[in-house]
Amino acid sequence: MDGIRILGTGSYVPPKVLTNSDLQKMGLDTTDEWITQRTGVRERRIADPDVNTSDLAYHATLKALDMAGMTAKDLDLIIIATITPDTCCPAAANWLQAKLDVPQAVTFDVTAACSGFIFGLNVATQYLLTGFSKNALVVGAEIISRTLNWKDRRTCILWGDGAGAVILTKGKGGHRILSTHIHTDGANGQDLLLPGGGSRTTPISHESVDKGLHTLNLIEANMSFKVAVRHFVGSIKEAVEYNHVAVGDIDWFIPHQANLRMFQSMAKSLKVPMEKFYVTLHKYGNISSASCAIAFDEAVRDGSIKKDHLVCLPVFGGGLTWGSALVSW
Ligand SMILES: CC(C)(COP(=O)(O)OP(=O)(O)OC[C@H]1O[C@@H](n2cnc3c(N)ncnc32)[C@H](O)[C@@H]1OP(=O)(O)O)[C@@H](O)C(=O)NCCC(=O)NCCS
Repeated sequence: MDGIRILGTGSYVPPKVLTNSDLQKMGLDTTDEWITQRTGVRERRIADPDVNTSDLAYHATLKALDMAGMTAKDLDLIIIATITPDTCCPAAANWLQAKLDVPQAVTFDVTAACSGFIFGLNVATQYLLTGFSKNALVVGAEIISRTLNWKDRRTCILWGDGAGAVILTKGKGGHRILSTHIHTDGANGQDLLLPGGGSRTTPISHESVDKGLHTLNLIEANMSFKVAVRHFVGSIKEAVEYNHVAVGDIDWFIPHQANLRMFQSMAKSLKVPMEKFYVTLHKYGNISSASCAIAFDEAVRDGSIKKDHLVCLPVFGGGLTWGSALVSW
């Protein structure tokens, strides 16, 4: 039976490393021990000032194309999931299309914060199933470092920059996306907020900058550890029930990489060993839309994901947004 197949994966993180100790050296009132114990993050990657989100997406795309044995000319749909596009208008996907020199491809961005990659997969799947698209590129790409208040020790320690990509097609064979599920709760969605730049705060002014409206605000409440874990666990259960498999049948959990303690809590709640959780957050932090895509690519490339493995990618993020993908490799 025809299904949605993953032909290639790729990822890219900028080379510049910012460690927890570096943050302390920058004058932030924190320690490596505090950050590591509370979050699991040890270091993160930071894009150079002349690098844009579509540049990170471009490098990840080339790797995914290479694995797929394709060229950019084969693509007819490009979706970037991001909350940090190169520009508000045009979309980051349009900048990427120009870099790839593929005017035939339809391009747009998807905004779903840390759940963005799975939202992108869900949208691309519909285009492939209807026949509108034959080969779709979905990229999660972020330069979160540009949106941070580096004096806010509760927020700036969490995030990093990077991009992860997949190439999808419809057909028979392995590496199949068995399901995607996505959800939003707009009424409770203001706790991860980048208020400036939109219609609520225009025109942009010295005052709006001074008030910190152009930096990422993370309020606990709906973005708390507890709420995140509830949605992660609920998303995993939704995926297994839909596919008539058991939680124990899943070989790898590759969640959005927000916090190691969330993974431990999920493992306990689902009664599965921590060894089944693939972790990249210790080296990259939380890269919003890109986190899950990068971790997935690394798990494919280092051989952790093997033939016929069942892989679950649960996500949760601002908006509120949450969901999952279940993949049979
Ligand atoms: C940021 C986070 C790690 C803080 O952990 P916490 O255990 O809740 O810590 P609290 O916010 O209760 O703060 C405890 C103390 O540590 C301090 N603190 C906060 N950040 C600190 C840092 N980077 N270094 C040192 N101390 C810090 C606080 O000021 C507070 O001090 P006080 O008790 O004197 O007021 C945690 O809230 C978190 O993981 N938040 C993000 C949730 C998330 O990822 N959601 C999903 C996003 S997709």
